[in-house]
Amino acid sequence: MAIWHINGGRRLEGACFVQGSKNAALPIIAASLISPAETNLLNVPCLSDVSQSLRILRQLGCTAEQYQNDVYIDSRKLNNCIIPKEMMQSMRSSVLFMGALLARCGVVHLTAPGGCKIGSRPIDMHLDAMRCLGAEVTEENGEIICKASKLKGNDIFLKYPSVGATENAMLAACGAEGETIIRGAAKEPEIVDLQEYLIKMGAFINGAGTSRITVSGFEAEASAGHRIMPDRIAASTFLCAAAATGGDIELRGVDSRHFLQLRHFLNQAGCDIISSDRSVRLISKGILHSIGQVQTEPYPGFPTDAQPLLMAALLKAQGKTEYTENVFEGRFCHVSQLRRMGADVAVCGNTASAWGVKSLKGAAVTASDLRAGAALIIAALSAQGKSLVIDRGYITRGYESLDNKLRYLGADINMEI
Ligand code: EPZ
Repeated sequence: MAIWHINGGRRLEGACFVQGSKNAALPIIAASLISPAETNLLNVPCLSDVSQSLRILRQLGCTAEQYQNDVYIDSRKLNNCIIPKEMMQSMRSSVLFMGALLARCGVVHLTAPGGCKIGSRPIDMHLDAMRCLGAEVTEENGEIICKASKLKGNDIFLKYPSVGATENAMLAACGAEGETIIRGAAKEPEIVDLQEYLIKMGAFINGAGTSRITVSGFEAEASAGHRIMPDRIAASTFLCAAAATGGDIELRGVDSRHFLQLRHFLNQAGCDIISSDRSVRLISKGILHSIGQVQTEPYPGFPTDAQPLLMAALLKAQGKTEYTENVFEGRFCHVSQLRRMGADVAVCGNTASAWGVKSLKGAAVTASDLRAGAALIIAALSAQGKSLVIDRGYITRGYESLDNKLRYLGADINMEI
């Protein structure tokens, strides 16, 4: 449990580097298992989800160490394919070990994954993709066993562009005989990063970033090195915090193409945004106006992960903004907590309507998931007075040194473990 102490009302100013992407690092760590090899990863964020993924690798017999933002993995020592229930349930991305272990060993024992409670989050598409490649999947008392004497390449049709199911299919396909085509694939930048790593591991794969990904073979390499892409949601978090507090910040080490939609919305709300390929600067006078309709969609649409962040940034924007959440059915848990700070937001079905208020007041609030927690911190930074954000470990799952970085930019914030 952590408690974030925040005294709001201070502008954010200055420049900082953005962490490596959690949602690129996690599938790539799982992918290091697909063949016996040494992997060196750079720009890996120091997060509890990363530590947990490395713990799973060690549980499977591998060497897996992180020193600051460098990670070393030796998957030549893999000696079992059973992931304990408590490890599976610690995060959503544990499910990605399924495709990797099936490719490597032809068998994997696991349970349903954990992860932020933002909806039902089934894994039916993951399991169907494994079956499509010839795996026998049995589910008994919550345990899932996937077996395949030899995976066979096939056409996999995803009924929805699921990020995780796309990644799992890519990993399993690397161990399949013949060609696999994944149709209806998700197009997120993290999937492109995973493809780049898999190519370094020896995969013949292309199409990531489009809805059609082809895996046409695999010739294992003895080692691979890769630098994790920047975290586009962490970058979005800092931009929203600067917009909310009336700040002037510059983010470095980003790929500004990855959050075009958010940049457009913040500009529409009244912020000045100056971007280059690897940096983005946001200047806000703190007086923002509403932006009408916001719809969350799979990439390249506006990302669901940024919905709570943008809502928090625009709580004092003049007028009404409507947020329609089309990706997860339970992603408005932050609204009740924002209302405790004086926000005027009402939820009806999968739409939240927010009317700008003159000011927010500090309050004690509770984080229900990773991005909801970040949204509460953004709102607290722009509120008058002191706030306490009570966090059961969600925020540090996804943000590296968030308190230090915000303090460096001028925020009055301290995290108490
Ligand atoms: C990834 O989750 C991200 N997590 C999420 O980020 C992100 O919100 C999400 O993609 C959407 O962009 C990681 O990469 C570790 P999905 P994932 O499969 O893969 C339904 C964060 O804050 N679905 O694209 O779990 C599902 O219920 C996290 O960093 C099925 O129905 O998301 C959801 O409604 C939160 N069956 C929709 O698809 C399946 O088999 C999108 O889920 C799989 C998914």
